Amino acid sequence: MKRNINYNIFRFVCRAISIVSTVILITNTSIAQTKPTNVSLNIERRIDSLLKKMTIEEKAGQLTQYTGDRVTATGPLGKPIDKLDEIKAGRIGSLLNVRGALQTRKMQEAALQSRLKIPLLFGLDVIHGYRVTFPIPLAEAASWDLQAIEQSAKIAAKEAAAWGIHWTFAPMVDISRDPRWGRVTEGAGEDTYLGSMIAIARVKGFQGESLGDTNAVMACVKHFAAYGAAVGGRDYNSVDMSNQQLWEVYLPPFKAAVDAGAATFMNSFNLLNGVPATGNSYLQRDILKGKWNFKGFVVSDWNSIGEMVPHGFAKDKYEAAQYAIAAGSDMDMESSAYIANLEKLVADKKITLAVINDAVRRVLRKKFELGLFDDPFRFCSEARERITLNAKEHHDAARDMARKSIVLLKNENNLLPLSSSVKRIAVIGPLAKSGVDMKGAWSVKWEADSLVSLYDGLKARLGDNTILNYAKGCGIKDSSRDGFNEAVNAAMNSEVVIIAVGESFDMSGEAKSRSNIHLPGVQEELIKAIHATGKPMIILIMAGRPLIFNWTADNAPAILYAWFLGSEAGHAITDVLFGDYNPSAKLPISFPRAEGQIPVFYNHMNTGRPVVNEANITYRSAYIDLPNTPKFAFGYGLSYTSFGYENLEISKSKIKRADSFTVSFTLKNTGKYKGEEIVQLYIRDKIASIARPVKELKGFKKIELNPGESKVIAFSITTEKLSFYNNDLKWISEPGEFSLMIGSASDDSKLQGEFELID
Ligand code: NOJ
Repeated sequence: MKRNINYNIFRFVCRAISIVSTVILITNTSIAQTKPTNVSLNIERRIDSLLKKMTIEEKAGQLTQYTGDRVTATGPLGKPIDKLDEIKAGRIGSLLNVRGALQTRKMQEAALQSRLKIPLLFGLDVIHGYRVTFPIPLAEAASWDLQAIEQSAKIAAKEAAAWGIHWTFAPMVDISRDPRWGRVTEGAGEDTYLGSMIAIARVKGFQGESLGDTNAVMACVKHFAAYGAAVGGRDYNSVDMSNQQLWEVYLPPFKAAVDAGAATFMNSFNLLNGVPATGNSYLQRDILKGKWNFKGFVVSDWNSIGEMVPHGFAKDKYEAAQYAIAAGSDMDMESSAYIANLEKLVADKKITLAVINDAVRRVLRKKFELGLFDDPFRFCSEARERITLNAKEHHDAARDMARKSIVLLKNENNLLPLSSSVKRIAVIGPLAKSGVDMKGAWSVKWEADSLVSLYDGLKARLGDNTILNYAKGCGIKDSSRDGFNEAVNAAMNSEVVIIAVGESFDMSGEAKSRSNIHLPGVQEELIKAIHATGKPMIILIMAGRPLIFNWTADNAPAILYAWFLGSEAGHAITDVLFGDYNPSAKLPISFPRAEGQIPVFYNHMNTGRPVVNEANITYRSAYIDLPNTPKFAFGYGLSYTSFGYENLEISKSKIKRADSFTVSFTLKNTGKYKGEEIVQLYIRDKIASIARPVKELKGFKKIELNPGESKVIAFSITTEKLSFYNNDLKWISEPGEFSLMIGSASDDSKLQGEFELID
């Protein structure tokens, strides 16, 4: 009991310190701003004058966000309230899930009837496309094509902005090494470097040149932080990790997004080392708003302020509101803790007005920057809405992005690409005719008629010249084998078989963690039945995450991993099947052999007893029933052509800290098709004061070559690429030896070299 009292005093003191330091930080950061422009000075002045007029309730209103639509709610709902009345009373500053020029206009008109006429912000989860659905983010990451990814975000933003949306809750930049977690679908996979590059591309794509562009939306970088490391891959679960991991693996994509100008952040549901991210001053005040000098605002995740109560961190919503605002959560999504408690917290002297003013200033600043004070309706134009959505060029871009996202995992005896002269193709499997699953999780204004299934894609290319023998074979999840015979007959009557298997769109995404990530139901049995016919078969796997399909991987001659590719899925897959596009994608996440290996990722540490010889693992760090390696490694993916790597040259073998050097090599297309190779550069710091991973991705390039063509490829290496966080969390480099590996996958180094960093 005594311990509890002491602990409570300790917590109280910590929080008091945190509130005091918050005030100091707020004062300091406003002084430490980069030189303001006339426009920003003007905005700050306008905010000053508004703040003087606002009541505390109106301030709490600006920090309050609700869903405008209870049907598309993505979390527990509070009791229904009349939103229009609340808006008119100045008690709501932002809405999510309201879309369409008409709807947003109606709400905005209500805001203009409030005392201070402060316009509303409309936010929505525009994750991979809007009306035209693009591939799920994990699939896009497989393209390693930053330009295409930026373009995809740009189109999504343009369509969303035409529908009155100011703000997307994307990109999700959570690194995740756990495919059980359903939200791997929404991120860029397991690697920090690739993830950071993609974070920048997405922020730039969503936000365009500057806030206020009516073809762009504000980005919201989420989930701050470490959400992707939820224990057991179970959504909303806790995270416990060293600062080392946090800073080196999980934070860099967030930092990259801040540097790219991200307007807003969303915090996360998880505890981080016992403290909810939402109530975490270290994350939001010290790092984000302090060290990184972030000038935007932070929105909580859905009810994550209220959820600090069941976490056992706050006694009730009053306390939760206190801890959240003190820790730097500026806007309250859906928990209504701020609107109910901020006024009282100030009266009770638990929170200073300065803390609230800072949060309100951050929100108002974005409303000014979007131009909403000058014209609250600038995003609500029905005419623009009509002409913008579903444009042909958006579909073209979605098709191109989709082709770039398909990973060729296997192609024995060059079964692919298929010849156009093939006359009878069996198209089998529960996903072969599915359009709806192609949308994946988090799709917005998709319409079933414009989601192209594999079957429709094939039909569109082949017309009546080729007979398509379709059979579903089985369902995605059910155990019935009744359709197997029909599928076997379809195969027997065809020259080649395409089998589309995988997950349904709603098996990945938020709250879609799975403990078993094998191909669901009897789908692998269906593949075995078709295999027994002896017909050549191509397996297409569609899913929102890496799946396990060992038998198929070992026995099927050709496999394409097609994720969920969006509106143009069927066309894009057909392009790849027939060689109209030569696949170039590489896996952005490792594919395990078994759930028991998870987390399995390429940039792991070495052990004191690493496996040097798979045939002798006695007293080695190994599984006695499984190799340590994944089934398919990070960075892996084939092409219809082949590439040769030669002539590695390292410009200097010893470098000083201030130096940089160049590593170059010749890449040659040694096959028969024009194709693109994603060349990858990995580095290992051999000995360091903190042991370093066995390799880390430090650069990549996507190179297109004609058959027989070669190019010299160069990477520049600076000390920055050799640095790491030491025990005091200082970003340092240490003299010593390094290895570098260049290759086509994390487990396929084609060229290796050494160099030394000297003092
Ligand atoms: C909860 C999710 O975690 C978050 O990513 C999303 O943006 C919000 N719900 C709003 O839908």
